[in-house]
Amino acid sequence: MNLQQESKLCLARILEQVSLQGIAKTQQQAFKDRLERYFPELFSQMLQVYEQRYDLHFHLQALVELLVEQFKQRSLALKRKDKKRLDNPHWFKSEQMLGMACYVDLVAENLVDLQTKIPYFQKLGITYLHLMPLYKSPEGDNDGGYAVSDYRQVSPNLGTMQQLKKLATALDKAGMSLVLDFVFNHTADDHEWALAAKQGDETYQQYYYMFDDRTTPNQYEQTIREIFPQVRRGSFTFNEDTQKWVWTTFNSFQWDLNYSNPSVFRGIVGEMLFLANIGCDVLRLDALAFIWKQMGTSCESQPKAHLLIQAFNSCLKIAAPGVLFKSEAIVHPDEVAQYIDKDECQLSYNPLLMALLWNSLATRKTRLLTQSLSHRFKISPDCSWVNYARCHDDIGWTFDDGDAGYLGINGYDHRQFLNQFYTGRFQGSFASGVPFQENPQTGDCRVCGSLASLVGLEQALQQNNPAAVEEAIKRIMLLHSVLLSIGGIPLLYQGDELAALNDYSYLNDEHKKHDARWVNRPKITQVMLDAVEQKGTVEQQVYDGLAQLIQIRKQYAVFGDAPTEIIYTNNQHVFAFKRQHKNGQTLLVLVNFTEREQAINNQFIQDVAMRPLDLIEQQTMDLAHSQVTVLKPYQFRWLLSE
Ligand code: GLC
Ligand code: GLC
Repeated sequence: MNLQQESKLCLARILEQVSLQGIAKTQQQAFKDRLERYFPELFSQMLQVYEQRYDLHFHLQALVELLVEQFKQRSLALKRKDKKRLDNPHWFKSEQMLGMACYVDLVAENLVDLQTKIPYFQKLGITYLHLMPLYKSPEGDNDGGYAVSDYRQVSPNLGTMQQLKKLATALDKAGMSLVLDFVFNHTADDHEWALAAKQGDETYQQYYYMFDDRTTPNQYEQTIREIFPQVRRGSFTFNEDTQKWVWTTFNSFQWDLNYSNPSVFRGIVGEMLFLANIGCDVLRLDALAFIWKQMGTSCESQPKAHLLIQAFNSCLKIAAPGVLFKSEAIVHPDEVAQYIDKDECQLSYNPLLMALLWNSLATRKTRLLTQSLSHRFKISPDCSWVNYARCHDDIGWTFDDGDAGYLGINGYDHRQFLNQFYTGRFQGSFASGVPFQENPQTGDCRVCGSLASLVGLEQALQQNNPAAVEEAIKRIMLLHSVLLSIGGIPLLYQGDELAALNDYSYLNDEHKKHDARWVNRPKITQVMLDAVEQKGTVEQQVYDGLAQLIQIRKQYAVFGDAPTEIIYTNNQHVFAFKRQHKNGQTLLVLVNFTEREQAINNQFIQDVAMRPLDLIEQQTMDLAHSQVTVLKPYQFRWLLSE
């Protein structure tokens, strides 16, 4: 079959039925151009996913109708922004970019109140704000909002959709991109589709994976992993109303959507474009690895999952082309990389960097970090990493066993060690983390805890040990020094700029106490914010230290759109990389992951410059008179040559 030709014919037939008339005259041509340009890829993606469906043409026509409809709903202001984004498609690669993720009700009272916090974000230099899920979700446990009852309504305790749109406009004015969650692997079990399914409506039962008995679930369970083994064993939940087993990868109240049904794809495209039309710049694709199920496989990162995401993206390119996708694939690094493409997800969390930074702090060695990133950091120049150290979730040790094996490290044993270390069970550990979802069968476990508690601040304060406090602060700076310089969007997590400790109050909450991730979702209080204003407090030192690094980052283009080269130094305790901007700036970053002095041969620095400027110390180094450069405990250097 000649795809190009067939897709043209298909679109021509569709356009005989679907009118573009409702679209403003001035917009019509641009829309039509994009439709003609991207329909062929959408056509091909849909054809590959739904090859067995006799009624595909029907779905394609309905899909185009939906795109027209949603484009009509898109405001003029957003259409102008689309144009701006298309004219500058690499806008997110700028050194000005700095992200923060936060829960509306943990940094403010509600959406209206959040507007009053804009100056706070601006002062820190934030240009990208991820508001954790804020949609209507079930009362009580709702997985921190990741169980969505209605994508088109804001959770009543946070405000209204109108207020969210206002906030989006205000953020835009303040130079901040809004990032919203696109929770499309599952809905809450009280979403209208799930309610209809529960009432026996077969059309909607086909929106989910529902089985009359355990036969098929048992077959699937042979090859899939359990995500929340402490919630319930396996990945299926028995539903009393229908007497059926429902696929629930995460919590039992989060029902996985059945994308083998094209009506589900269309339905979710509608919700996606609704979210895009609120005025967000980035959609975070939650749990995207899980959207396609294939018997006999892990049911993660299946080829059709990629095709579906590309198809969602094609729809975006036609109807809301300024919006980007960010991949939330917290899986094996090979799989993480597969989602990163200009036609799939332009942005991706970097869980490997995250995990290996923590690994290096624990082991005081940078071998695995260097080895892994040396061949895994590079991605398409049209895309960007989102680099983070902590987020609202647990830490999983997602490095590759091959990379570890190459260095003589046994992956399984090493993960056990890291879990022991970060839950404070390992003798001499500085960390105060909490174990998460221990799997009695596999021994698998993940770790929760705030950044400050994991780097040792909690323990140091408990022991009233000023030297240990100082070390913990240094570790906080060190982690951020890498995030801010290695290339990509650095993403801070709410409260980390204030050295927020673990918040154990979740243990008193009936709906939260079983989910240790709440330990790293602290409420930001006025007391914490006031502490920043008092000289000498930990909060002040951390906040001002970070603010200084951020300010330096924003001054030099080399922190933005420039390739990164990971470097092997002669010292396994020092992590190093080099970046080169086309304007001639070169940056060499050296990071000492130990609480001891470390020396490295000057030859590594001379490669870059004989007299580099140390951006942190604000002085020029002269390498002419010595063989080695010494890094103080946990010291990092940002060395620039122009
Ligand atoms: C993502 C979220 C996590 C949530 C899960 C299910 O991994 O980050 O918080 O539990 O998806 O939606
Ligand atoms: C698993 C998933 C990841 C999710 C996490 C939530 O690790 O792979 O997507 O964020 O569980 O705990």
